[in-house]
Amino acid sequence: MKLGDGTRLTKKFYIKTFGCQMNVYDSQRMADVLAPLDFDATDVPEEADLVIVNTCHIREKAAEKLYSELGRLRLIKQDREKAGKGSLLCVAGCVAQAEGLEIQRRAPYVDVVMGPQTYQRLPQMLEQLNKGQRGVLDLDFPAEPKFQTLPETSGRGSAAFLTIQEGCDKFCTFCVVPYTRGQEYSRPAADILDEVGKLVQVGAREITLLGQNVNAYHGDFGGAGEAGGLGRLLRLLGEIPGLLRLRYTTSHPTDMNEDLIAAHGQVEALMPFLHLPIQSGSDKVLARMNRRHGVGDYRKKVDLLWQARPDLKLATDFIVGFPGETDEDFRQTLDLARDLEFIQAYSFKYSLRPGTPAADMEDQVPDTLKSERLVELQDLLNGNQTRFNRSCVGQDFPVLIDRPGRKPGQFAGRSPYMQPVHVTPADGTQEAALMGEVMDLHITAGHANSLSGVPVKQNLEGPGG
Ligand code: 5AD
Ligand code: SF4
Repeated sequence: MKLGDGTRLTKKFYIKTFGCQMNVYDSQRMADVLAPLDFDATDVPEEADLVIVNTCHIREKAAEKLYSELGRLRLIKQDREKAGKGSLLCVAGCVAQAEGLEIQRRAPYVDVVMGPQTYQRLPQMLEQLNKGQRGVLDLDFPAEPKFQTLPETSGRGSAAFLTIQEGCDKFCTFCVVPYTRGQEYSRPAADILDEVGKLVQVGAREITLLGQNVNAYHGDFGGAGEAGGLGRLLRLLGEIPGLLRLRYTTSHPTDMNEDLIAAHGQVEALMPFLHLPIQSGSDKVLARMNRRHGVGDYRKKVDLLWQARPDLKLATDFIVGFPGETDEDFRQTLDLARDLEFIQAYSFKYSLRPGTPAADMEDQVPDTLKSERLVELQDLLNGNQTRFNRSCVGQDFPVLIDRPGRKPGQFAGRSPYMQPVHVTPADGTQEAALMGEVMDLHITAGHANSLSGVPVKQNLEGPGG
């Protein structure tokens, strides 16, 4: 808003993000939507004229988490109102999509409830509130996808996320995504190239392409409405000058097609690290999950990937205690986890999601047993991860420096395998000189979740180097 003396009066927004990287990306794009309305970001909800809670619905307790967060935010809203300051509260994301009306009923002080496909309409929603409407609800899946109406992207640092695909048609029996994020949609390649180009211009050196099922990507590549897959997109992105690193997440094993596997051997910028969820080591459980692949199919894909890119390392997801999972099924999961040596893995207790097919399966596993299995699996997975981190000691890694470390003079970045690496350059190099740089680091220590290193040059010059 412009005042009479020409100064601008900026309002403040605060976004609290739950869930996956796709929600982080959506929150960043909400900030892009708010920028032309003279909104600036704040980390302090008490200062915010607009508070957005971007929610995740993938596992239980999402709703409880939301309502307890809303309870806190309501008090802030009341205090601000007492002080004569306006304050709007908005719930976005997948819980909003799944439980919109219930949110309005249980928390009538919430001003806006919007799903993941409609936040580009936030300015219109704010306008409706301005005109006196109470409780705006927008849970549409618009025919014109949000990406076509979002404003230009803003800079997001040296390692940026970018959503290229949304929704899912796979219908794994445990999963809410096909219901909350809707049908699969792939953005046209030209849009993606354009957004990547802008991100690189403002400092991105690494881009992680995001999608609930990102390797199902089948966007329009122009010409006669020609569709192509993720392999083709990666080859095009690999040509962009200044874009040093590419990653994509998260993938479904059945969509790891020949062309995409080949791209792993051809696109230099594509990092040798792949998150490929397996969920279980038991064929019986995988079939009941409707995963559309068995353990053997997964192993075959991994072998082909290793042929294309021998230094590729894997990360994965596991669910323990899926309905009907026996001790023997679980043992097969442990065997697989041991055998494939995932260097990183997320593991979860099966969480019953109302409305999904697995919720109605009869042989639900008791929670205590799920907890025991989770502890056993996580012990094994943590062991794998620590072993891998320790095996990196003595190697030289290119590390993309993207943030200051916690200690003075320290910096942090990511190795090609996504491990956080900490370094304190002995020559006292300043932050401005290092941010966004790929530094060759000699790894000196491997910890449970990170590595430490010294600059290769420094190591060579140092005593005994
Ligand atoms: N229970 C437990 N874990 C789940 N995931 C998805 N749905 C559920 C559920 N109902 C996990 C899967 C998926 C990751 C994003 O979340 O492992 O890969
Ligand atoms: Fe959910 Fe992934 Fe299965 Fe799709 S492929 S239903 S997003 S677990």
